[in-house]
Amino acid sequence: MALQQKGMHGAWVSRWTFIMAATGSAVGLGNMWKFPYVAGSNGGGAFVLVYLACILLIGVPVMMAEVMLGRHGRKSPINAMRDIVAESGADPRWSYLGWLSVLAGILILSFYAVIAGWALSYIIEMGSGELRGVDGDAAAAAFSQLLNDPGRLILWQTIFLTLCVAVVMGGVKKGLGIAVETLMPILFVILLGLLVFSYFKGNFSAAANFLFQFNLDQLTWRSVLAAMGQAFFTLSIGMGAIMAYGAYMPQKANIGQTILVVAFFDSAVAIISGLVIFSIVFATQGIEPSAGPGLMFISLPVAFGSMPGGLLIGAIFFILVSIAAWSSAISLLEPCVAWLVETKNINRFKANIIFAVIAWVLGLGTVFSFNIWSGYQLFGLTFFDFLDFLTANIMLPLTGLLLAVFVGFVVNSKIIESEMLGTHPRVQLLWQHTLRYVAPISIGLIFIMGLYEKFS
Ligand code: PHE
Repeated sequence: MALQQKGMHGAWVSRWTFIMAATGSAVGLGNMWKFPYVAGSNGGGAFVLVYLACILLIGVPVMMAEVMLGRHGRKSPINAMRDIVAESGADPRWSYLGWLSVLAGILILSFYAVIAGWALSYIIEMGSGELRGVDGDAAAAAFSQLLNDPGRLILWQTIFLTLCVAVVMGGVKKGLGIAVETLMPILFVILLGLLVFSYFKGNFSAAANFLFQFNLDQLTWRSVLAAMGQAFFTLSIGMGAIMAYGAYMPQKANIGQTILVVAFFDSAVAIISGLVIFSIVFATQGIEPSAGPGLMFISLPVAFGSMPGGLLIGAIFFILVSIAAWSSAISLLEPCVAWLVETKNINRFKANIIFAVIAWVLGLGTVFSFNIWSGYQLFGLTFFDFLDFLTANIMLPLTGLLLAVFVGFVVNSKIIESEMLGTHPRVQLLWQHTLRYVAPISIGLIFIMGLYEKFS
C-alpha cells in the first residue's frame, strides 16, 4: 500500500508542531499535580528513579509503537487499528485494542476535567486576594470548601470542557495546531520563571534532596506499580491520544528521535514542577510532602499567601497548570471526535458536543465522590480514586503491554519497515526487542506484584 501522506482530518504543518502537540498532551496535571504528590507519598527519590527508568525502558518504546500505528493508519485509533489488523492478516480481536484505549481516554477525560476545574478556580481564588496570609488550616479549609460544593465543581468542570471543545472544534490545523503552538511556549516561559522564583525564595536544596536522594529500601512493588502507571499516564500512552496525534504527523519525521524529544520535555517538566512545588512546601512550616492530592491546592496557597507579590505569582502558577491541563485534555477529546467524524459522517462540532457531554456526565461521579458520595466505596476507594487507579494502574499498563506485543510480534514487518525508514538498523532492532521482551515482561511483572501487594 502506498503510504498516505494525510488522512481526512489533515496534518500538522511540521514535525515541530507534532512535537508541541505531543508535548502538550504529555505535559499536564500528571506532571504538575500528580507527579509531585505521588512521588511525595511514595518516598521521593527512589520513586523518581524508577519512574524515569519506566519512561525510558517502557514508555518511550511503547509511545513509538503507538505513533507508528497512528501514522500508518492515518485515522482515529479505532479505525487505524482495524485497518492495520486487516493489513497484517491478524486476528480481528486485536482491533479491540483501539476501543480499549479510547475508553480509557474518555474515562480519564471525565475526571481530568474536574481536577482541571480546581486549577481554574484557583486562578481566581489567588488573584482575588482571598487567600492572602492563610495558614495551613485555613488553606485546607478553603480547599475542602471547594470540594464540598458540587455546584462550584460542576461550574468549573463545565467551563474547562467548553474550552476544550472550542479548540478541538477548529480541527487539526486551525484548532489543535494553533493552540499548542501558542500555549506551549507560554507554558515553558512561566515554568522557568517559577523555577527561578522558587530557587531564590523557596527551600530549593531540601526539594532537590527529597527528589534525588535515591533511598531504595523505601521502594515497594506498589510504588513501582505507581511509578509505571505514572509513566504511562504522563506520556499519554495507552489511551489513543498519541496514536491520534501520530495520524497527523508528517511522513518524513523520524519517530524515534521525535518521541525522545517529547519524553525529554515531559520528564523535565515533571522534575521542574516537583522542584518548584517542594521548594515552596519545604519553605513553609508544617506541611508534609506526602499530603496527597491536596498538596498543590493547600500547601502552595499557604506559601504564596505569605510572600510579597506571592498572590500574583500564585495566580500565574495556576494559569500554568490550567494551560497544561487544557493542552492535554484536547488530546483526549480528539481521538473520539475523529472517530465519530470518520465513521458516522457527523460534523466536528456535533461530535465534540457529544463527547464533551459524555465526559461531563461521567465526571459528575468524580464531582460527587468528593462530597455527597464520599461515603460510597468501590474496592475500598472512592469513585474518583477508583477511576484513577483503574485507568492509570490497570488499563494503561494493560493496553501498553498489548500494544507492545502487537507491534513486536503481530504487525506486518513491511508496515514497520516503511514507518521506521531512516532509523539505524541497530536502533530499530533494539526497539523491537524491547517491545517483544523487555516491555511485556516488566509491565506484566510490575502489574502482578503491584496488584498482589495492594490487595493482600
Ligand atoms: N499526560 C497527561 C498528563 O500528564 C494526561 C493525559 C493522559 C493526557 C492521556 C492525554 C491523554 O497530565
